Amino acid sequence: MTSTRQRILSGAKPTADSLHLGNYIGAVRQWVDMQSEYDPVFFIPDLHAITVDFDPVELAKRTRIVAAQYIAAGIDPDKSIFFVQSHVPEHAQLAWALNCITGYGEAARMTQFKDKTAKAGSDAATLGLFAYPSLMAADILLYQADLVPVGEDQRQHLELTRTLAQRFNSRFGETFKVPQATILKSTAKIYDLQNPAAKMSKTGESPNGAIQLLEDPKTAAKRIKSAVTDDGTEIRFDAEAKPGISNLLTIYATLTNRTIADLEEAYQGKMYGHLKTDLAELMVEFLTPLRARTNELMSDPAELDRLLARGAGRARDIASVTLASVYDRIGFLPLSGGR
Ligand code: TYM
Repeated sequence: MTSTRQRILSGAKPTADSLHLGNYIGAVRQWVDMQSEYDPVFFIPDLHAITVDFDPVELAKRTRIVAAQYIAAGIDPDKSIFFVQSHVPEHAQLAWALNCITGYGEAARMTQFKDKTAKAGSDAATLGLFAYPSLMAADILLYQADLVPVGEDQRQHLELTRTLAQRFNSRFGETFKVPQATILKSTAKIYDLQNPAAKMSKTGESPNGAIQLLEDPKTAAKRIKSAVTDDGTEIRFDAEAKPGISNLLTIYATLTNRTIADLEEAYQGKMYGHLKTDLAELMVEFLTPLRARTNELMSDPAELDRLLARGAGRARDIASVTLASVYDRIGFLPLSGGR
């Protein structure tokens, strides 16, 4: 791990029994692609997972599933710092300091907070949900990350992170690197297969709208075949006029490393059904080994936990240095003999 490389950092919440295809294409795949050229930090934000309704037994299981899915998708725990957020107490500690420089109105303007509050009702919305973005800022700033590869839905949180870093630096002295989001235009938003106006998500209305990375590949193939498509017959990328077909083309291009233009040419004169049949087959080829590898990793939880513990140790080595300088700048009295 050389210090000349730029540091990348990202994470996906353990709030479902599996990551979905949107998480993979919008985020995890980029992490895997960037892993060798950058200094990578990937973690599982379990503190964020408890900002909405959760079940403790499920949470523990889901945390290991996400860990296994990261590795199965290609994250190498030897190349990347790989850990669970709650194992590194500095996240919650820095988040508190950032809460105290975040405006109430600033936090209330976060669209994800507004959406979730609208869905769950304001009584179900907790102080934790409100503070979600400053915890996310802490995740990033603790490691002095240069780049944060995420999907489009995280853009506003990244902007707040930059604002908080700049505010802290100008008030207390240069402390944090100001990070940048890496949002790949072509894959930043994968849409729901049944409703191509909405993003694919863990909480979509129809189960057929999302592909779960751990589901039976045959079921996933059926979901592709039943995806909502558009009027007309031409297979062409046009996000406005043909959102359904464009979404399928994006997924197809990502799984095969082909360009959209190449696919448009290959499918000239063919029907939507041809594209769907081929993509359904590709999906089976993609999911089958991914699922087998995830299940294999899940069958040895002790080994997963060992890898996560090792990662937490490496993460703390970095996080504790940043937190110490934050505490010092804020004026917290040093603990005689060290913390
Ligand atoms: P989460 O768990 O909702 O999603 C994980 C990643 O997947 C991306 N994503 C998508 N990309 C394209 N199309 C979609 N339909 C789609 N759905 C999800 C998300 O943009 C994200 O990159 N707040 C974060 C977790 C987090 C984090 C962090 C990320 C906590 N701390 C620090 C980066 C840095 C979240 O809820 O992601």
